[in-house]
Amino acid sequence: MFRLPFLFIITGLISFALFQLFSLFDFATWLAVFGEEPRYPTGWFRVHLLVLGWATMIAMGAVYQLIPVVLQNHSLFSKNLGYVHYGFFTVGTAGLLIGFQTMQVMWIAGFATVAFIGVLLFAINIGVTLVRAKKWNTITISVACSVTYLVLAGLSGMLMGLNFYFDQWGDFHEQLLGAHICFAAFGWFGMLITGFSYKMFPMFYLSHEYPETLQKIVIALWNAGVLVGALSFLFNGPAWLKWSGLLLVVLAMIAYSIHLSQIVKHRHKPNPGVGMKWTLALTHSLTVIGISILILSPFMPDIMVQSQMVVILGWLYLWGWVGLTLLSYLSKIVPFLWWTHKYGPLIGKKKIPTMSDLINDRHVHIGLTVIVSSLFILMVGLSWNQPWITSIGGSVLALSSLLYISLIASVFTK
Ligand code: HEM
Repeated sequence: MFRLPFLFIITGLISFALFQLFSLFDFATWLAVFGEEPRYPTGWFRVHLLVLGWATMIAMGAVYQLIPVVLQNHSLFSKNLGYVHYGFFTVGTAGLLIGFQTMQVMWIAGFATVAFIGVLLFAINIGVTLVRAKKWNTITISVACSVTYLVLAGLSGMLMGLNFYFDQWGDFHEQLLGAHICFAAFGWFGMLITGFSYKMFPMFYLSHEYPETLQKIVIALWNAGVLVGALSFLFNGPAWLKWSGLLLVVLAMIAYSIHLSQIVKHRHKPNPGVGMKWTLALTHSLTVIGISILILSPFMPDIMVQSQMVVILGWLYLWGWVGLTLLSYLSKIVPFLWWTHKYGPLIGKKKIPTMSDLINDRHVHIGLTVIVSSLFILMVGLSWNQPWITSIGGSVLALSSLLYISLIASVFTK
């Protein structure tokens, strides 16, 4: 059970490198355009290269890797179905991306459908595995919810793709877009990261006997937030309903933040590695930002719906939390995966390196610090509408991300 997750992770790393290279080639000027009007071909292309080609690809690989571990004696329903899923999803995503960039509506409609079939195959594989194992706990429930939201995100994406071609829905297309972003960004990524952390944190901090009640509260609040948000967009609900969705997600974030601190408090390992420390710091920071937005938004309702503000907040959430958490976790997951595959069978037979020998923690820390600093410069550029600051921030972000991902990929040479 190494090849399948590995295939997804390698493809994800390639997409990530491509995304950064494209940003470097155009000196991140696409971001300044995106800040003013996000819905244009290059915007759609770059966003989906990052969220589908990279983040979703890596997340799918991580689910294939983690599920058998969480379920202990139960293996994945079908490895072969996993490879078929990989084929559909990769071809669908690649075609969709080309369709976006070249604005070929036929391609967008057709390959959005192929990508959605890939998502469905993934959901069937994971769904059957979970139902057969009958081991319901906060991790498996979070994974099941997140995969369900991915299906809803894929479905709404496919419908919008088809509507690019058939052009039948008028305003309903806009409503669908709001729901699509809620399902994908908050539902899929949010539920997956929180659920995975219930395994990753105790594993790397060696924590025992910590209270688990907050995990159930996070699941309830997060689901409620995603559903209220998505349905209020879908049925064009009033602003206060959308705010209520945000309120529920922020409350979930607060509970999640407190819970991670509880796990850390019950640790038996003082140093879990910088990747874990960064994840904790990022979660606390996002919670503070979420609370501030929640309080400020009723006082400036017009500013909150401006596309520039939506882009800044979306970028903060997707890059600042989802992306950086994935990057931090990769510094732990990739050495773990590779060490187990390459050196696991050699234990006791000859002298082998330790897992921490595979990646230099100080380099991980420097990489993440530069990435966060450049993201901050990028945010300043977008907020003040200063294209050259946006370009500098975006280019340093791209370069540092490229160096960071090379550091992660170098593990495979050790
Ligand atoms: C099979 C999966 C997916 C398909 C077929 C798909 C399709 C689409 C389409 C057709 C649009 C353009 C809608 C419009 O502006 O009229 C769109 C926009 C968008 N999608 Fe997806 N999507 C998928 C997955 C995701 C995921 C996982 C995310 C993660 C957050 C995501 C985030 C977004 C965002 C942020 C936009 C707005 C982008 C912009 O305005 O530039 N999508 N998607």
